[in-house]
Amino acid sequence: MTLPERLAQYHAAEGAEEYFDEYTKFHRKLSDRREHKLLDGYFERVGKVTTALDLPCGWGRYMPYLRSHGAEVLEADYSGSMVQKVAEVFPETPLLGRMRCFGHRIPLEDKAVELVFSMRLSHHLPDPVVRREHVEELFRVAERWVIFTYFDRASLKNVIRRARTAIGLSKKHPKNTLSRAQVREIAKNAGFKIHEDPMLFVVGSGHRLVLAERV
Ligand SMILES: C[S@@+](CC[C@H](N)C(=O)[O-])C[C@H]1O[C@@H](n2cnc3c(N)ncnc32)[C@H](O)[C@@H]1O
Repeated sequence: MTLPERLAQYHAAEGAEEYFDEYTKFHRKLSDRREHKLLDGYFERVGKVTTALDLPCGWGRYMPYLRSHGAEVLEADYSGSMVQKVAEVFPETPLLGRMRCFGHRIPLEDKAVELVFSMRLSHHLPDPVVRREHVEELFRVAERWVIFTYFDRASLKNVIRRARTAIGLSKKHPKNTLSRAQVREIAKNAGFKIHEDPMLFVVGSGHRLVLAERV
């Protein structure tokens, strides 16, 4: 599970405000652009979708994008303040719903929505069991498509981080990672095929953006 202090920070109103403000920064705009470019390519394959779960939704950064592809969107996040923020930022936008839940315990039936979308959660989950359960839940709840990010164990950023920590040059904690093979195995067991999983950036980021389809 995410560290309790971190969760409390996200849940607090100030935490939601801070995260919202982050998106005015240059590096965020840059990674936003890269994410959108990859996602536009994914949606050429996916086409129109009927329903989507956006978990974690944060302040709703991706909700209008999902709606632009036809989806009625269910916005969900551990943080009540984030879920509330969605309604503040987009007061006029009709939603399928908003709810609070953990990313690894989704209170929905199997195949409840056509697309499950989980951007930038996995690397916040320090417990490897929870990290795995989160990915399994995404596949369980998706009727057809899953799009999500995770931090790749073999990424340059993580390898350097581990090496620096091992020789005492850094005191930073290891990243919360998954291996590519592990993600492929979870997808296969759930009956999904991974179409694409490129790095967001080869240098400076270890996130992979996965597009998977139920086969
Ligand atoms: C980096 S933000 C990403 C938000 C959104 N997907 C985006 O890309 O803008 C991480 C979000 O995960 C939520 N979160 C953290 N731990 C969580 C957990 N265990 N389950 C569900 N949501 C969680 C936080 O409240 C926060 O809104």
